[in-house]
Amino acid sequence: MALWIKPSLAILLFLLLQHSEYSSAASIVENFAQCVSLNSDLSVLPLSTIFFTANDSSFTSILESSAQNLRYLVPSAPKPEFIFTPLHDSHVQASVICSKQLGLHLRVRSGGHDYEGLSYVSEIEKPFIVVDLSNLRLVNVDIELNTAWIQAGATIGEVYYRIAKKSRVHGYPAGLCTSLGIGGHIIGGAYGSMMRKYGLGADNVVDAKIVDANGRILDREAMGEDLFWAIRGSGGASFGIILWWKIKLVPVPETVTVFTVAKTLEQGGTKVLYKWQQVVDKLDEDLFIRAIIQVVNAGDKGQKTIVTAYQGLFLGGADRLLQVMQQSFPELGLTKKDCVEMSWIESVLYIASFPTGTPPEVLLQGKSTFKNYFKAKSDFVKEPITETVLEGLWKKLMEEDSPLTIWTPYGGMMSKIPESAIPFPHRNGTIFMIQWLSLWQDGEKDTAKHLNWIRKVYDYMAPHVSMLPRESYVNYRDLDLGMNKKNEVNFIEASGWGNKYFKGNFDKLVIIKTMYDPDNFFRHEQSIPTLPRPSSESMGCSLA
Ligand SMILES: Cc1cc2nc3c(=O)[nH]c(=O)nc-3n(C[C@H](O)[C@H](O)[C@H](O)COP(=O)(O)OP(=O)(O)OC[C@H]3O[C@@H](n4cnc5c(N)ncnc54)[C@H](O)[C@@H]3O)c2cc1C
Ligand SMILES: *[C@@H]1O[C@H](CO)[C@@H](O)[C@H](O)[C@H]1NC(C)=O
Ligand SMILES: *[C@@H]1O[C@H](CO)[C@@H](O)[C@H](O)[C@H]1NC(C)=O
Repeated sequence: MALWIKPSLAILLFLLLQHSEYSSAASIVENFAQCVSLNSDLSVLPLSTIFFTANDSSFTSILESSAQNLRYLVPSAPKPEFIFTPLHDSHVQASVICSKQLGLHLRVRSGGHDYEGLSYVSEIEKPFIVVDLSNLRLVNVDIELNTAWIQAGATIGEVYYRIAKKSRVHGYPAGLCTSLGIGGHIIGGAYGSMMRKYGLGADNVVDAKIVDANGRILDREAMGEDLFWAIRGSGGASFGIILWWKIKLVPVPETVTVFTVAKTLEQGGTKVLYKWQQVVDKLDEDLFIRAIIQVVNAGDKGQKTIVTAYQGLFLGGADRLLQVMQQSFPELGLTKKDCVEMSWIESVLYIASFPTGTPPEVLLQGKSTFKNYFKAKSDFVKEPITETVLEGLWKKLMEEDSPLTIWTPYGGMMSKIPESAIPFPHRNGTIFMIQWLSLWQDGEKDTAKHLNWIRKVYDYMAPHVSMLPRESYVNYRDLDLGMNKKNEVNFIEASGWGNKYFKGNFDKLVIIKTMYDPDNFFRHEQSIPTLPRPSSESMGCSLA
């Protein structure tokens, strides 16, 4: 017996040593770096400038740099083995090849705004690495051809700036918050203040370059129309890594008009909001008016009230805007004094809440001002919400420390684009989208309370919003809707959240996913699942 144990122990020990060496963070990053240098053009670089492990003094600042949701930066949140910050396309390509080779789970980050931190935290799979594209941010605008090629790590604010620098009468219809990364933003839809005129950012994409699950770089022609369809609205990191988007520019007038008009409950806010719901999707397509609803203190005795701020962008001058408002929405009481005429790029800064007079160059910093602990949810509304239900909602909002809800109008171009044109399905019949938010600054301690509050509001609203499915916006990721387990898909559960985000387009996304990434390399808590593989037995059956 003893003779048998000794050699097998030695082998075991050998295997253990090998394994522990292999899996120590230092050798993981070394092996990865070596693989990347074999598979890309890395020869001239000191590796220490693009690979960061927990031992590097800059690890934490790089991890936190663009991450928006402080809930996913707490010490207990899982941390990547290392962060890789590629300097060109071939590095990104190599990151896919090498993650596969070394069996590492890969997360990709462009602008870091994911609501559930999916681009820098994996709750379901370890070890994982983060490939951060923030060094890849070229924006090449071609006014003659009316297009721009943009690298995924650029922010949408940089895109707007580069377009405006070349022309006062060109723009692009995407997000309102200027620090969004275009890699993760456009892939989920990308709505903004010109959506009623021109649709989403994703509706205005004409080409792309991606790294697929085999590590190949493919443009639209090479990937084919199915995959090109799938990457315009399916949400991040299910089909590949976007390296570049080619977008179509849209015309904007030399002068646009912005305004913000606020109504408290005491100023008849509930009635005005009810009226807003009846007209907002039918307004002139040049006009976008969103409603930003918050709780504020009223008076010095601790009373609270609700304030609804109507923030508008009109693609034209103030005189025509006042005529349109007089005809369609006089209840808001918009006056000439409320209206500010400016260039389109100035309106971008205004809507993103930069102080008046901030130079547009601020957009080149690509920095966000919105770092909070937060939880959000979304809804789509098809029938106006009655004043009684609104009154009940105000009571609920007043129970929470820092609630915020933003109501975004649909209609116009959004209704004309068929539901199946791209994966984003929330089209004709939608009056507006609601985003529910709770924000807090005091760390983890009351997280459960805030989550509980937002879930209660969501339940309260269930009868008054879209049903079967209750629709949600994929760019407002919400893991309450369900999630994949470790590289394992419960297809029935996935179709629950899948139908909320994509309605009838979900099935087609699953088929395309199964064709182009059958091993489910690109996966996360809510990535598009592959179809279950037929087992060899059932294959045998079908062959017989
Ligand atoms: C403050 C704030 C304001 C917002 N305003 C708007 C708005 O006005 N309009 C709107 O439509 N949305 C808005 N959003 C939502 C936003 O569109 C999404 O959070 C979007 O996913 C952000 O993209 P990102 O690159 O910044 O985020 P990331 O966190 O970097 O990525 C988001 C997801 O996409 C994946 N991903 C990232 N890069 C790539 C890539 N190159 N290829 C493939 N997958 C990738 C990530 O792995 C992750 O799953 C807002 C979000 C925040 C936090
Ligand atoms: C960090 O440093 C320690 C001590 O020098 C070392 O043992 C460990 O392997 C290092 N980890 C990484 C990820 O480099
Ligand atoms: C949108 O739907 C309504 C019915 O709900 C229909 O009357 C209208 O024609 C549709 N519009 C488009 C552009 O499909």
